[in-house]
Amino acid sequence: MNLFDVYPLFNIEIVKGKGCRVWDSAGNEYLDLYGGHAVISVGHSHPDYVTAVTGQINKLGFYSNSVVNSLQQQLADKLGAASGYDNYALFLINTGAEANENALKLASFHNGKRRVVSFRASFHGRTSASVRVTDNPAIIAPVNEGMPVTYLPIGHPDLVEAELKKGDVSSLIIEGIQGVGGIQIPPDDFLRSLRELCTRYEVCLIVDEIQSGYGRSGKFFAHQYAGIRPDIITVAKGIANGFPMGAVLIGPMFKAVHGMLGTTFGGNHLACVAALAVLDIMEKEQLIENANRVGNYLMQELATLPGIREIRGRGLMIGIEFEESVKEVRRRLLFEQNIFTGVAGARTIRLLPPLSLSLSEAEEAAGRFRRVIGRTKTNQ
Ligand SMILES: Cc1ncc(COP(=O)(O)O)c(C=O)c1O
Repeated sequence: MNLFDVYPLFNIEIVKGKGCRVWDSAGNEYLDLYGGHAVISVGHSHPDYVTAVTGQINKLGFYSNSVVNSLQQQLADKLGAASGYDNYALFLINTGAEANENALKLASFHNGKRRVVSFRASFHGRTSASVRVTDNPAIIAPVNEGMPVTYLPIGHPDLVEAELKKGDVSSLIIEGIQGVGGIQIPPDDFLRSLRELCTRYEVCLIVDEIQSGYGRSGKFFAHQYAGIRPDIITVAKGIANGFPMGAVLIGPMFKAVHGMLGTTFGGNHLACVAALAVLDIMEKEQLIENANRVGNYLMQELATLPGIREIRGRGLMIGIEFEESVKEVRRRLLFEQNIFTGVAGARTIRLLPPLSLSLSEAEEAAGRFRRVIGRTKTNQ
């Protein structure tokens, strides 16, 4: 059997990781400025994380959601305290798409409405409702087209109000910071207008913090820069440092009914201990403060490079937009300088390193960028 060939691959096999570094099968060492799509939050193979996960698998790997799993409540308590959302409820699932899927459903169960407002260049996942609110027709299949969605440009409260006042909108979904869309930060005052409009027109405000959340932006959630409280928040990626897990943080206005949502694997024992270890390590090593400090330093250093149109970001969620295509720069960063980076579109390099990236690793990364960009024609 062949693998279903949907991923364009670099011909590198990563076999080992430690902190912000990974090694390939030939023994080459790389600096990981991408964290495997923003997933590695506390660093590869952190010893406390390894101890927690191996300790749990030695006791019990899995049992279903038909019996008490007190690890789930421990996680809810810890996450509530760490994020400032201790009066919200937690629903645990396995991926980011599934988190948004459940958030959109929950909003619709709550108010009985169908239409969703989403934003241009958004990415919310690939399952039916999540992909439907994603602004990329190439990944929306005909079977996904049923749910009515209106995509609006970010930054225009008047356009949002014109849609919400029609009365048929169930929820509005927006990323805390657009990731796939190129590290686009919604203006704080726009987020505040969304909060106000959603309250006025009784529309559920869902903030997708799957990529921008969990400390990555230098606050626990990126929307906290705007001082707003969404009705529903979705998380995944860094929540369990690579163990597949997603979650929905649900505001007090939503009423849980037995059977309305569910999952086989969500909130399993291994996922919970992984997520508890992540929060412990984030607190102990002050990784949110670190993301802020090291992210600011890295952005300042990168801003001095030639050929750059704009650097956008908060904390360790950084987009470097070049004047021209970044294909060759990225290839050389990887194969000549041993640095993993990501992209967003043709001209933006996306950096999403572990939140434990040190100042000296950031300095080393900036030096390696300088070596490539100082002498690369970006349009090759
Ligand atoms: C903002 C955002 N939402 C949702 C998703 C989907 O997450 P998953 O791939 O875990 O389904 C992603 C993944 O990149 C994302 O960046």
